Amino acid sequence: MTPDRRHLPPAPPPADAPPPVDVPPQTDLSADARSLELAGLIRAEIESAPDSRITFARFMERALYEPGLGYYRQPADRPTDAGDFLTAPETHPIFGWTLARRIEEMWASLGEPRPFSLIEFGAGSGTLGLAILEGLRRHGSTGVLEALRYEPIESNPHRLADLARRFEEAGLADPLAHGTPAAEPAPGAEPAPAAAPAPAVGIVIANEFLDALPVHRVVQRGGRQLELFVVWRDRFAELAAEPSTPALAERLADDGVELVEAQVAEVCLGLERWLDDVAARIAAGYVIAIDYGYPAAELYGRRRLAGTLLGYSGHRVQDDPFADVGLTDLTAHVDFTAVERLAERRGFRAIGIATQSEFLIASGLEVELRTVQASPDTKTEDYLRARSGIVRMLDPRQMGRFRVLTLARGVLPGPR
Ligand SMILES: C[S@@+](CC[C@H](N)C(=O)[O-])C[C@H]1O[C@@H](n2cnc3c(N)ncnc32)[C@H](O)[C@@H]1O
Repeated sequence: MTPDRRHLPPAPPPADAPPPVDVPPQTDLSADARSLELAGLIRAEIESAPDSRITFARFMERALYEPGLGYYRQPADRPTDAGDFLTAPETHPIFGWTLARRIEEMWASLGEPRPFSLIEFGAGSGTLGLAILEGLRRHGSTGVLEALRYEPIESNPHRLADLARRFEEAGLADPLAHGTPAAEPAPGAEPAPAAAPAPAVGIVIANEFLDALPVHRVVQRGGRQLELFVVWRDRFAELAAEPSTPALAERLADDGVELVEAQVAEVCLGLERWLDDVAARIAAGYVIAIDYGYPAAELYGRRRLAGTLLGYSGHRVQDDPFADVGLTDLTAHVDFTAVERLAERRGFRAIGIATQSEFLIASGLEVELRTVQASPDTKTEDYLRARSGIVRMLDPRQMGRFRVLTLARGVLPGPR
């Protein structure tokens, strides 16, 4: 879906537009051929590995991020009506306009810093970033707009190029800091990226980003915790064996979780590395993480004994994580208890956890809708479109049940 940009007044092209983004040349291979090539590469890694197996996190890492072949390296834009899933910001810009209200409050609580960084992990083609900036304009928040540097962090160079183009078209290239690819996701506890940027005062946003980080899978069998590895048996298959790292059991123990017999669970060790990256980027400010997920007691509770790993392809759920490698989005729900605890170890404190619907309503979603309704420029179909977007964002069976975790660092108790 193309975002509604009618509220952006035209602006002259900026003098200091960010440098162009390098986009890899498109290959002539069909999607199926790319998938086969990627499957072949992963199979070769399995066959040459000691014990002829790899962790599921390694499989997921390659399936999502293999340069030129992984799901998040494809030229096609996936979170769209025509793609595999639709995120809340893609549903309607009112999501971003509402988030802009929070950002205004947070900027004020930080003492109106200049510059003020808005760092978005998994920025995609910039739909949320554009809607936030548009929201700030709609609210007349010129102080924030003048101070703001928007820093998209996106692993897909095609999306980053789309983002730069869209910001320029919207006359918003000025607040756009040059997009930086995130540190490559790693399943293990690798060191944080060497060249950490100078820490800023600002806000980190991650919407539907954490659920894409690679996960290890564990299973409880015969009273022991085993890990589910990926092997090749004429196709990809699972094999339960001794865990590759004690960090898996440690994470669950720190969460206070005890798996029951036959329970399968996912563990995202990459959270540590992400939080290292966030902590290196933000000296003072807030983090807003929005995603599928639950506190650990719920995530690993009796209602989810098979885990939460899912694939998405063409707006359909794909139960087999090994099908159509590189063409299927793989996700696992976020363990928000672990995010909170690991963030606290890095100097953040959790100041709120809510469902997406609670968060949006508390942030002023209804005020935004009333503003749309009251505007003489609003046509009936615009209003209906905003309303139907809101219904999806608030629906407790869909995005309304997402969790929103807000963290703060270096700030006095402030907005929630
Ligand atoms: C589900 S989409 C969400 C996009 C956007 N945040 C939204 O809400 O519409 C996830 C985005 O995160 C990007 N991404 C996934 N893993 C990433 C990583 N490790 N580093 C940077 N970007 C990543 C993907 O390329 C994709 O654009």
